[in-house]
Amino acid sequence: MKDVYQLADLQNWADATADLPVPIRLGVVGDPVAHSLSPALQNSALEASGLTMQYARFRILPNELEQAFRLMREHEFVGVNLTLPHKMAALALVDEAADSVREIGACNTVAFRDGRSLGYNSDGEGFSRAVREAFSVDLGDLRVLLLGAGGGAGRAIARQCALEGCERLVLVTRVQAKAEALAKELTAYFSGPRVFGPVPRLEAIPWEDRALRAQLARTDLVVNATPVGLRLTDASPISRPLLAPHLMVYDLIPSDTRTALLVAAAEAGARGSDGRSMLLHQGALAFEFWFNRPAPLAVMRRSLGLS
Ligand SMILES: NC(=O)c1ccc[n+]([C@@H]2O[C@H](COP(=O)([O-])OP(=O)(O)OC[C@H]3O[C@@H](n4cnc5c(N)ncnc54)[C@H](OP(=O)(O)O)[C@@H]3O)[C@@H](O)[C@H]2O)c1
Repeated sequence: MKDVYQLADLQNWADATADLPVPIRLGVVGDPVAHSLSPALQNSALEASGLTMQYARFRILPNELEQAFRLMREHEFVGVNLTLPHKMAALALVDEAADSVREIGACNTVAFRDGRSLGYNSDGEGFSRAVREAFSVDLGDLRVLLLGAGGGAGRAIARQCALEGCERLVLVTRVQAKAEALAKELTAYFSGPRVFGPVPRLEAIPWEDRALRAQLARTDLVVNATPVGLRLTDASPISRPLLAPHLMVYDLIPSDTRTALLVAAAEAGARGSDGRSMLLHQGALAFEFWFNRPAPLAVMRRSLGLS
């Protein structure tokens, strides 16, 4: 199997896959995708479940997505995962979308079934399961500060915090108007009684040290849902002096090499987790959406180097 397939391969699928003993019926679609850990994760699950098919990477440009979907349906694909930059565009291409997809405005999983395409989003629930696993606490019991709240994953996590009734949610984006617009959408979820004093349960704040410092004193969980940290040279999105031992820090970047944020968190005495546990759980939910059967979690966990 090639490391990465492209639209031209889908157009000449019989030739492109002639040497494969097991057919490709699933994949991750994005640009870039070369770094994606999803093939290792899903192929371990397919093999453990006795499903004779493979999962591959597809580098597809935005103007190619519609054609790629059409060709995948013709080639009897079971479904795909979507990553940057397609999560929002896919919403317009699916025949049916789960409520989560419409409310988040982003779709990270598609199933091709009975001639139709069905959209689903497993990021929010996957994140919730990952937090429970990493810190032995329910998301709903936490005060959360979310960096990158306006992106696809950020919106999914904000909605999940709202659904689970988080004590507080602080939305942080580079352009504050984006966080304010999202806060407006979520207001109804946070209208219940406050447990932690007179501060509002839902806030949108500017990305500035002063504002962050004031909020972090009233935060349990800091979440990085920006791509900052994908490159090893990236600085921490929150400066080290702002972090404190009472915090839990979840960085969505799925890597066993610690990001600058997780290094800073450890130096501050805070607990931290990288995004592999979210990748695991959102991938397991996608597998269950495609096959309507339990995902083999233990095998999938091992494929990501998680014990
Ligand atoms: N572990 C997992 O399972 C998992 C799942 C999904 C995503 N992720 C990771 O989460 C990250 C975000 O993914 P996504 O799909 O949500 O991407 P996205 O839709 O492009 O959103 C990224 C967000 O980050 C913000 N951002 C981008 N560059 C920034 C910078 N230099 N400083 C501050 N904010 C910045 C953007 O803000 P603006 O709106 O201001 O541009 C945007 O809101 C990626 O690293 C992705 O790999 C991990």
